[in-house]
Amino acid sequence: MLKGKKIVLGITGSIAAYKSIFLLRLLVKEGAQVKVILTPAARDFVSPLTLSTLSKEPVLTELFDEQSWANHVMLGRWADLMLIAPASCNTISKMAHGACDNLLLATYLSATCPVWLAPAMDEDMWHHPATKENLQKLRSFGNRILPVDQGELASGLYGDGRMAEPQLILELIRAYFANNQVLKGKRVLITAGPTYEALDPVRFIGNHSSGKMGIAIAREIAERGGEVTLVLGPSSVKFNENGIEVIRVTSAQEMYNACLERFAATEIAILSAAVADYTPIAKAEQKMKKEGEGLQVELKRTPDILKSLGERKHNGQVLVGFALETENEIENARGKLQRKNADMIVLNSLNDAGAGFGHDTNKITIIYRDGAIKGFDTRSKDDVAKDIVDALIEKHYA
Ligand code: CTP
Repeated sequence: MLKGKKIVLGITGSIAAYKSIFLLRLLVKEGAQVKVILTPAARDFVSPLTLSTLSKEPVLTELFDEQSWANHVMLGRWADLMLIAPASCNTISKMAHGACDNLLLATYLSATCPVWLAPAMDEDMWHHPATKENLQKLRSFGNRILPVDQGELASGLYGDGRMAEPQLILELIRAYFANNQVLKGKRVLITAGPTYEALDPVRFIGNHSSGKMGIAIAREIAERGGEVTLVLGPSSVKFNENGIEVIRVTSAQEMYNACLERFAATEIAILSAAVADYTPIAKAEQKMKKEGEGLQVELKRTPDILKSLGERKHNGQVLVGFALETENEIENARGKLQRKNADMIVLNSLNDAGAGFGHDTNKITIIYRDGAIKGFDTRSKDDVAKDIVDALIEKHYA
């Protein structure tokens, strides 16, 4: 049920606009209050009269007319969700570049709620690098891009680019609002990425972690209402999303300092970073010159962040760690959980195809404090993030 949920439905100029009439009908039937905004081009595809009759609200198009000015700021603040369906190639491009030449775009720029897009366009446009770049940009602003369908297109060709079916969009919205409440107000600390331990001003000891797993978890927690602080090591992934506080760090010591400073005020900590276990005892002030046939570097242990948080953990705080193992996986991961006083360990085995660093997929096993174990199939890192957050909620917040 979507009773009491306030949704701004933006419709743009695309042949798929007819589907939005069904979508509106479904949303209203579920109890949502829906205000529809049309772009000027959308009026050629659907009639404002149909939409206002179904929504029982005036349909908005113009930023202002002779008598009044549509308050886009209030609209953007009123909504619990802004959904642009269909989102045409043109509107996607304008959104990515901050254009503001109609009411829909002005509302988008003012929206304080999550914004979702259901793209619709011909296959060649969908696959064009410009469209991909625009969508990537919108994703990095924190907007959610719904999947497109494959099928017959307006051009008569067959391929990718059809707007997702209204029933699927409804289900995603239902799931979003159902999930969204669970972690509302919970402060969540997440570490991600590698750390670099400097040898001199130009060299470091590091590892291949991309940070993608931790970033996917940060997004998933934020989608379910959590207030996320992401302590991110030197990953090449650009990450700057609405509603997620990002602290960039380089070394294990910096990551440790950032985590310790925040842990006391945190309800959940998920430590997915691949923290270097050792760091050079001395960092050379100047670039080291090569001398002789070999080089010995003396290393010392870095602070163990997970263990330190485990020692400080108080009642009610939930601590999740990761383990990457190559042998005796379960036994080693169980030992790690005990030693570091964690509540859950997410185990990756390097023996599983598609798991670990550098892949877009992962295969995990979750080990709980009470001894229970749950295995999962190989899935995309986004889906694995969902599994991890589901497991956490099921165990501690259901
Ligand atoms: N971790 C940490 N601080 C460190 C090292 C690791 O917080 N200095 C965290 C990682 O983020 C991860 C978990 O501890 O959640 C991994 O434990 P770790 O003991 O480092 O496991 P491995 O890297 O697998 O190392 P080993 O098996 O050698 O103990």
